[in-house]
Amino acid sequence: MTDAQFIPKPYTKSLNSGAFTWSSPSNIALVKYWGKRENQIPENPSISFTLNACKTTTTIHFSKKEDQRDFSFTILLDGKEAPDFKPKILTFFERVETYLPFLKSYHFRIETSNSFPHSSGIASSASGMSALALCLMSIEKAMSDNLSEADFIKKASFLARLGSGSACRSIEGDLVVWGEHEGIEGSSNLYGIKYPYEVHEVFKNYHDTILLVDKGEKQVSSTVGHNLMFGHPFAKQRFEQAGNNLSQLKGILKSGDLEGFMSLVEQEALTLHAMMMTSNPYFILMKPNTLKIINAIWAYREKTKAHLCFTLDAGANVHLLFPDYEAKQIGEFIKNELVAFCQNGHYISDRIGFGAKLL
Ligand code: DP6
Repeated sequence: MTDAQFIPKPYTKSLNSGAFTWSSPSNIALVKYWGKRENQIPENPSISFTLNACKTTTTIHFSKKEDQRDFSFTILLDGKEAPDFKPKILTFFERVETYLPFLKSYHFRIETSNSFPHSSGIASSASGMSALALCLMSIEKAMSDNLSEADFIKKASFLARLGSGSACRSIEGDLVVWGEHEGIEGSSNLYGIKYPYEVHEVFKNYHDTILLVDKGEKQVSSTVGHNLMFGHPFAKQRFEQAGNNLSQLKGILKSGDLEGFMSLVEQEALTLHAMMMTSNPYFILMKPNTLKIINAIWAYREKTKAHLCFTLDAGANVHLLFPDYEAKQIGEFIKNELVAFCQNGHYISDRIGFGAKLL
């Protein structure tokens, strides 16, 4: 499997201008991606729930231009020019030009907005980069004769990965695996695939309530974060552990073993943070309220035997995962006891979703 499969055959149709709009969700990893090699190749396989409410909607307007020497685009966030986003998009265009050879032939006006507040501390790179990749794929599709749905999705995920690793897991739902794993047929380092095995009913409609503990800018960019795994004293063990956890999760997802699920997911979250705390330089991305929430969850679980667990990304916010049939009781607990730990009482009630949509 090489990258060459994503270089398109000469296009059969020409387009002067047009527009496409996609909405693409965020995702929350159960087994975390942390550490990558050159060209956005992950050091270990990861798996995530695709979310539903947290999403980015992006419209690309494209128009043919005379001068084809450079990339040309403007980017607007919520209707306002957002020059801060330009470098990331330029890097993305440079990385994907080989696979989308039309990029220098058009001027693009990229209009984007997120369903979650910009300053929520929720990373928009997964939803944003996947929405952008999908819009570009729609342009390619309009210029091609016979691009199958499956090839469209695979290449969209491949391109999204080159924008931001975790973005390749946002194209489809409700569970997506990215990274080669011998126990998961069809898994690839180049793109995400829908989890191909049986999943117990209890995981359908799973909830993810995101407690916004710290809405500030990310303290450590993901690129800096991933680089911390180079020469990390525990890197080798961590990458092995992720693979083993994914193998174990396969059985858990099939049998509906919620105890096993909670323990694996929390271990993954804390390992991610442990990696950051033990790297050089080191970081603590949890805040006092992150720990207060974790302790409150554990006490509540002890008392009620509810199936509520947490996971974390590379920040202080806490994702609360729980099954639909316990949502009422757990919802009360969140409102009564956890919301107090959120910045300005802000949180987002989300649940598992089914991937991006062409609008
Ligand atoms: C902690 O996908 O944001 O959320 O590839 O550098 O853009 P880049 O990194 P990114 O890393 C996400 C890391 C994580 C875990 C995960 O989503 O698997």
